[in-house]
Amino acid sequence: MKITKHIFLFVATILFASFNKQEAGIQLQNLRCEMLVNPEGIDVVKPRLSWEIISPQRNVQQIAYQILVASSPEKLANNEADLWNSGKVNTDESIHVKYAGMTLKSKRRAFWKVKIWTNKGESAWSGNAFWSIGLLNYVDWKGRWIGLDRSFEWDNETQFSRLSARYFRKEFQAKKTIKQATVYIVGLGMYELYLNGQKVGDQVLAPVPTDYTKGVKYNTFDVTKLLQTGNNAIGTVLGNGRFYTMRQDYKPYKIKTFGYPKMLLNLDVEYIDGTKETISTDESWKVTADGPIRTNNEYDGEEYNATKEMPNWNKVGFSDSNWLKAQLVQEAGGMFEAQMTENMKVMETIKPVSIKNLKANTYILDMGQNMAGWLRLKVKGKKGDKVTLRFAETLQNTGELFVRNLRDAKVTDVYTLKGEGQEIWEPSFVYHGFRYVEITGFPTVPTIEDFDGRVVYDDMATIGEFETTDKTINQIYKNAYWGIRSNYKGMPVDCPQRNERQPWLGDRTTGAYGESFIFDNVRLYSKWLNDIEQAQKPDGSIPDVAPAFWRYYGDNVTWPGTYITIADMLYHQFGDKETIKKHYPSMKKWIDYMQEKYLVNGLITKDKYGDWCVPPESLELIHAKDPALQTDGILLASATYVRLLELMQKFAHLLNKPEDVKVYSKVAEDIKKAFNQKFLNTQKGEYSNGTVTANLLPLVYEMIPANEKTKVWNNIVNKILVDNKGHISTGVIGTQWLMRGLSQNGRADIAYKIASNRDYPSWGYMAENGATTIWELWNGDKANPEMNSGNHVMLLGDLIIWYYENIAGIKSAKDAVAFKKIIMKPEMIDGLNAGKASYHSMYGTIKSDWKKDGNKFQWNISIPANTKSLVYLPANSLDKVREGGKKIVGLEGIKFVKTEDNQLIVEVSSGNYSFSVN
Ligand code: BGC
Repeated sequence: MKITKHIFLFVATILFASFNKQEAGIQLQNLRCEMLVNPEGIDVVKPRLSWEIISPQRNVQQIAYQILVASSPEKLANNEADLWNSGKVNTDESIHVKYAGMTLKSKRRAFWKVKIWTNKGESAWSGNAFWSIGLLNYVDWKGRWIGLDRSFEWDNETQFSRLSARYFRKEFQAKKTIKQATVYIVGLGMYELYLNGQKVGDQVLAPVPTDYTKGVKYNTFDVTKLLQTGNNAIGTVLGNGRFYTMRQDYKPYKIKTFGYPKMLLNLDVEYIDGTKETISTDESWKVTADGPIRTNNEYDGEEYNATKEMPNWNKVGFSDSNWLKAQLVQEAGGMFEAQMTENMKVMETIKPVSIKNLKANTYILDMGQNMAGWLRLKVKGKKGDKVTLRFAETLQNTGELFVRNLRDAKVTDVYTLKGEGQEIWEPSFVYHGFRYVEITGFPTVPTIEDFDGRVVYDDMATIGEFETTDKTINQIYKNAYWGIRSNYKGMPVDCPQRNERQPWLGDRTTGAYGESFIFDNVRLYSKWLNDIEQAQKPDGSIPDVAPAFWRYYGDNVTWPGTYITIADMLYHQFGDKETIKKHYPSMKKWIDYMQEKYLVNGLITKDKYGDWCVPPESLELIHAKDPALQTDGILLASATYVRLLELMQKFAHLLNKPEDVKVYSKVAEDIKKAFNQKFLNTQKGEYSNGTVTANLLPLVYEMIPANEKTKVWNNIVNKILVDNKGHISTGVIGTQWLMRGLSQNGRADIAYKIASNRDYPSWGYMAENGATTIWELWNGDKANPEMNSGNHVMLLGDLIIWYYENIAGIKSAKDAVAFKKIIMKPEMIDGLNAGKASYHSMYGTIKSDWKKDGNKFQWNISIPANTKSLVYLPANSLDKVREGGKKIVGLEGIKFVKTEDNQLIVEVSSGNYSFSVN
């Protein structure tokens, strides 16, 4: 009896387990290593692994995982984890799990998979994922840097430099059957790489730019399939990029330049018999600068002469006898770093919307969208025909290009035909910011069919979508989307069109956070923090532009402080704590430096840009001159510094540095006191001259004495509603907190008014006046063109954050990171009847889709597996709420928490839910 019972129980358990397993339907997707999908050549030896859990069921929470890592896919298939078997680890951690297996040396390859256990059963093993280690040590690099440290008679090294691209080639013999071949390349400023005539990879404008004297990025490619036993040919083309700078010998005190293009390449070949060989750059390579790319310059454009093409130059057998011997040149100077962010790519191809004949032989092409990238053309004509393309963002009334706001950038591409039937061309080493293109010299009558707009930016996924019933808001969102993608260029730049294109820190202080809802920008921004750290002076000073291609060490707070706010963003949005750990000492150094140098009488006394670009008193102005519109620089610097100290306390706490927490909190308290003493006018209840920014910063940074808060708040509201008639009056600094500040204090209606205005000044005004991106200035249609780009992102402030967190109501809770705990709380604003967004977090996709109609409210949400959410429903009692038509009490995945301020709060576990309130 007993035995049968046991057998029965045993069989039942097995049956249940397998039933449970299948029933669970749990899948693991999007396996990532250091937040990259199957990265080649990383230089982190203990990388962090993440996965997403997909399940059709509700309330799925991970309770354990097991990771297997093997040195070959075959071993992994046999569950032979020779590098690491984590064993079953009881935890809900599913992102940033640190590899803890055998130490991986240079060039090692690791194949991995994961399985999990959940409260709803276990998953099967995931599919295989992969990473490989790059060259970790200097000595791993074989060969020499090669280049040509000179220009040629067709080049010109003035302010408007013209330097032709350099073509390198090398043939070699692979003597045996190849098992594995890997290329490591540092090609500066930019490279294209070919093996046996085939282009390696789909990247463009690679590698990402750095200060090459501090760090150089190498790219790694698995090229096994491109090689063959016997003869092989490697070809590379080097363009200038930021290395041979666009403005050579021009203002050398300000503009950094690095020398002539150069490269170092290692091709590692492993044969099936286990022997190895490295082909590397050295004097045996041949080079010519007399190829088709006659000049390439980020600001001025590329000129390509197809009659100079060298057919098959990158294949075996080409005669390079009239090429030069590659020159051994000095190394770039920077440390070798694996590029752990994606390269740029052609991310989209769009068609022009119209083409007009302006005058004889001159056409104006309209892309219908301000964009960054280039034009690809299809053309037929005679040998020597020359097509000239000039790019601009807007047109003059005459229909001609408006180029004054490009300053002295020439943005002109020239293609010279070889005259052999249809020719298709696009540039290799430049990009332009444009909507319109002037075409001259086209041999036939061009039509829009002859052109494609190639949209170029870092290869990152779009992870957010957002929509409301308000057309203005939707248009602004679209403009922001195009603006942000235009300005990702291996680093975040200010604008893609004029002679600037610099990675200004202050433009992204808060913007990066908003952008992270739309783009998977985690790797780009963690790379940028490294650029910032590398740009730090030994004394601690951080520049306003990093990499410091322009040397601006102005020591203000608001621009360099971005170093700290972005580290916080990476942690809050993506759970990236390592970055905080890595940069903490440098952040601390800067914080201390600023204090030592600029803390006078309790306040930080240095500022440079003020509340940059407020709407000025007169429309032709770039900056306001009226002191009533400007905010005191010491106020901006001191308030921002207090905020940064608060973040530093958070970091110190996270890294278990209680002493630092104490110190920072004391300094912050002292500054607050001095700040209130100096700027708070208790009679008027306002700070300084009472601009919205002057009152808003102390409000959101919680610096106002409790008994003064209401007065200050009322002043903000009055200023906006009465003085500014419901319009924005803030610049780059104030706008970073405006929308959230208003919402947090109960006036989301004012935020909504500002967000949906279509008259000046507003984002809607830009759209109303033809903007398809975001302008640099509120008065971008009328202001002096000296500083007036049509494609900046800094004035977005916290608008995108507000769209997602307050309108769609998707927010990562403060007491967790990376949306492990989600606050679902859309604002109910009169006049806004629906909001909809999806956001692909590290855990999976979060959705919010709500509609209201009178007292009726309908809300569909999705919460990813292994996360939980607090859902705020606009209802004051449980009776009024239904989910899927049913009363919510006792429903799987839903737990009542409390009612608060006429809202019903429920805890909702993973799954899809359809709530209604009547
Ligand atoms: C840039 C801005 C930048 C500013 C700071 C401008 O020229 O375009 O975006 O932040 O200078 O001075």
